[in-house]
Amino acid sequence: MLDQLENVGQTAQTELKDLTTGDGLEDWNSKYIGRKGEITQMLRRVGELPKEERPAFGKRANELRKELEVAYEAKAAAIKAVELEQTMAEGAIDVTLPGRPVARGRLHPSTQTLRRIYQIWAEMGFQVYRSRDVETDEMNFQLLNFPLHHPAREMQDTFYTTNPDVLLRTHTSPGQIRVMRDYYPEPIRVILPGMCYRHEQITARSEIQFYQVEGLAVGPGIRMSDLKGTLINFTKRLYGEGRPVRFRASHFPFTEPSAEMDVQCFLCDGEGCRICKYAGWLEILGCGMVHPTVLRNGGYDPNKYSGFAFGMGPERITMLRHGIEDIRYFWGNDLRFLEQF
Ligand code: DAH
Repeated sequence: MLDQLENVGQTAQTELKDLTTGDGLEDWNSKYIGRKGEITQMLRRVGELPKEERPAFGKRANELRKELEVAYEAKAAAIKAVELEQTMAEGAIDVTLPGRPVARGRLHPSTQTLRRIYQIWAEMGFQVYRSRDVETDEMNFQLLNFPLHHPAREMQDTFYTTNPDVLLRTHTSPGQIRVMRDYYPEPIRVILPGMCYRHEQITARSEIQFYQVEGLAVGPGIRMSDLKGTLINFTKRLYGEGRPVRFRASHFPFTEPSAEMDVQCFLCDGEGCRICKYAGWLEILGCGMVHPTVLRNGGYDPNKYSGFAFGMGPERITMLRHGIEDIRYFWGNDLRFLEQF
């Protein structure tokens, strides 16, 4: 029976050696050293032996169980270590792989155009002046030489508040009066960017809110040639040297004389196409010499001072630059549109 015991011990050691995962380990444990395991079973049969052999057999069986227990603990620890190494290897981060791109925000196309416009005017010595979005009827119209009931008011359908004297500015021009009253008697060179609001049907060509950049220069002896030279310089910086421009006579109540400025169409180079409506030219801004009444309303004596003013629409400039045919994209918040810029 002692031989049989040694054999069981041998087999148990070999089987344990061959185990590679934790799964078989518990089965092995109950098969050999558990309460119903083979070693325990044999110990129970100790009574079958002659009396004098019993102590040696019992001693050996207990030793063997101890040996197997030690071997079991060692194996369990080894398997655990291998398994840990495996899970670490599976979850490992390969630091040499390229990272996933982070989705970053970007500047709205109108903001990009506005910043370019600010930069050019800054280079020419014009500061940014922030005027308010909510205006009085007096500032938005009357002081700009739109008398009450003047038909030109109808060109600019207005959002009024519950107080009919308070409205959302329909253009940035009322800022001219505010700058003049603020700066008098200093000479003025400012641009006035900001949002404007008009109570209009929203279509591909007109929105109820849009940006304008107003410009104003006031000082002694400013002439129409200054206006033309400055605006031609601006368009050259914005569109490049080779792009022809022209001035057309126009009318605004707050300038005299008044003009509009066109650039040659980018798409057809003056040939005529759908974008320029077959004119070959695209209108980009209104301008003129500040009307004497407006100068006076701002506190400047028109006999001593003169000035020029202009107003342009950055959305329109962006549309012309990128061939965008629908102004509603600017406020549609459609990422497919915005991500192109
Ligand atoms: N305020 C005009 C508009 O909204 C644009 C404009 C035209 C502004 C001529 C000016 C100017 O300063 O001189 O249509």
